[in-house]
Amino acid sequence: MLKEALAGILDKDEIAHLSSSFDVIGDIAIIKIPNELSTKQELIAAQIQRSMKNVRTVLKQSSDVQGEYRTRDLEFVSGDENYETIYKESACLFKVNVKEVYFSPRLSTERERLASLVRDGEQILNMFAGIGTFSIVIAKHKECHIESVDKNPKAIEFARESLKLNKHLKGTVNPVLADAATYTETHKNTFDRIIMPLPERSKEFLKYAFESSKIRAVIHYYVHVPEKEFEDENWIERDLSSLQLTKEYKILNWKRVREVGPRFIQAVADLQVS
Ligand SMILES: C[S@@+](CC[C@H](N)C(=O)[O-])C[C@H]1O[C@@H](n2cnc3c(N)ncnc32)[C@H](O)[C@@H]1O
Repeated sequence: MLKEALAGILDKDEIAHLSSSFDVIGDIAIIKIPNELSTKQELIAAQIQRSMKNVRTVLKQSSDVQGEYRTRDLEFVSGDENYETIYKESACLFKVNVKEVYFSPRLSTERERLASLVRDGEQILNMFAGIGTFSIVIAKHKECHIESVDKNPKAIEFARESLKLNKHLKGTVNPVLADAATYTETHKNTFDRIIMPLPERSKEFLKYAFESSKIRAVIHYYVHVPEKEFEDENWIERDLSSLQLTKEYKILNWKRVREVGPRFIQAVADLQVS
């Protein structure tokens, strides 16, 4: 629909490029506009609003995801100037300010995959939980407990707000404002499952995840890998060989999550502590 709406304004390549870097979060559309199209940005935004009736705000992403809190610079382009919205996924609702916290709708399949792996009764640590997207989707489906840790105070505020919107969870979620490394110091050998959704830096924290895990726990290790390395099935052992881990591990599974740049992918390895 967007493609048809933009047909008179952009050529085929421009439309393809734009639609691959375009997210809708609740009633906010976020687009990446290449420099050569910047003179057409208002026109593009107006067409998006015309063709997608649920979009009330169009924002332009003007930086990469950056900094410790993994946020991005966003500029207002058209509609209501608003950065806060409610996003729905897997029958869960999330309140989010897209400027103040990290948020990506592109990980929904991965969140469902993890929810399907969890068994009732598990104690889970989400080390880089943001507003609790993984945590709440998992707790919606399974009777487990999740410690949902993040360092960004705004992320924890929105996690608490989001929890109020999801009254019928099977499990429980406890949002914790903390640094994941500090948190794990006081929670050794505690968890059955640990989620590490900070692909740029998760390797630095892997030793803390191992210390916090029980024997036979599963660690979901998200990481950015050059596409070329990923083709070789020993990429995980190579990636982890420099670390001095306190426990052994077995690789249960690994997969590509999504493309994150030219020749770079986000991958996940499910490691079982042994
Ligand atoms: C890529 S985001 C993922 C957020 C969430 N899991 C999601 O998928 O929406 C990574 C999160 O890690 C948090 N973070 C970064 N360093 C941290 C640390 N040392 N301890 C705890 N959280 C941290 C950031 O604030 C950010 O919310």
